[in-house]
Amino acid sequence: MKILAIDTSCDETSVAVTQARRILANVIFSQVKLHKKYGGVYPTLAKREHKTKINLALNLALKKAKIDFTDIDAFAVTFGPGLAPALEVGVQKAKELSQKYHKPLIPVDHIEGHLYSAYAENKNGKPTRDFEFPILSLVVSGGHTQLVLIKNHLNYQLLGQSLDDAAGEALDKAARLLGFGYPGGPIIEKLAEKGNAKKFVLPTPMLHSHNLDFSYSGLKTAFKRLLSELSEKEKLQNLNDLSASFQAAVIKSLLLKLQQALKQNFVKTITLVGGVAANKLLRQHVRMLGKKYKLSVLFPPYKYLNTDNAAMIGVVGYYKFQQKIYLDNPAALERIPRANLDTYVIK
Ligand code: KG4
Ligand code: ZN
Repeated sequence: MKILAIDTSCDETSVAVTQARRILANVIFSQVKLHKKYGGVYPTLAKREHKTKINLALNLALKKAKIDFTDIDAFAVTFGPGLAPALEVGVQKAKELSQKYHKPLIPVDHIEGHLYSAYAENKNGKPTRDFEFPILSLVVSGGHTQLVLIKNHLNYQLLGQSLDDAAGEALDKAARLLGFGYPGGPIIEKLAEKGNAKKFVLPTPMLHSHNLDFSYSGLKTAFKRLLSELSEKEKLQNLNDLSASFQAAVIKSLLLKLQQALKQNFVKTITLVGGVAANKLLRQHVRMLGKKYKLSVLFPPYKYLNTDNAAMIGVVGYYKFQQKIYLDNPAALERIPRANLDTYVIK
């Protein structure tokens, strides 16, 4: 069966055509350049841009998959979490198409998409990966930092999450404080490669907390204070070391909670997903942790699957369709900007 999936939750207009876990086509129109000057994503601007690009993305995805709308068996769409005005565009379009072609509409949570991104395959079915449950997934994106235990297909338990900023957001804010644009994660990563992470002392967030939650506002404040103690010249001379120190504190806190979660839960697999999962140093450390606990460690197999994309939404759509989780009345679907993982899990 072929699914046409849409994600407009943030600043990428993405449409994909999937068949089970295979990605037949995935189109992404990124708005990064547009939002760069605001140092973050500007919601009304995002909506306008999604509206301009959505039909183009749909047609391009179908063309790449060499099919047309009549070949589609179901539509899948991200209903949340995300920016309300942005989500609205994708949800509206998916409703429209599902009604027009009389095909089921599958609601997918954006985080669910990230969770399944580690299991996506290219159009030739590569890489071949089996689901070995239970899976412990660390979701690190610009909007979310969560530890999720995936007990079986579509069966999740949220173990912990950020109480304030997400890890990606913290990296974005640190980059902004250093005078760089959005997204900051890759910029910090690049500068950090040449830096000394021990040069500046920053606190490890939630070091002494006994739960699996994260927090990055304290780290941000400490970083701000550190910068205020430096002259502009010193700041510029130490960009690499400052980046390395900040990145190290973020990574340390992620590993701390990941390890704590491993001690408390029986799992067979670790997955690292979301935009920040592209970070090489973080990957390296998570791989080492997997070795220590003799667990397989999986990352999204292709680069575009780390950051936002509709392919991962289509993959979830397949498993939901199998369990008959779709809407009888597509018109009833509404965007849910603050959706939780269990919003549409009908058991
Ligand atoms: O998953 P994503 O594309 O969007 C959300 O759903 O939020 O994640 C975007 C986040 C941004 O904060 C960006 O700075 C971060 O992922 N990011 C990185 C890297 N690439 C993207 N962070 C660290 N290292 C990277 N290489
Ligand atoms: Zn995302």
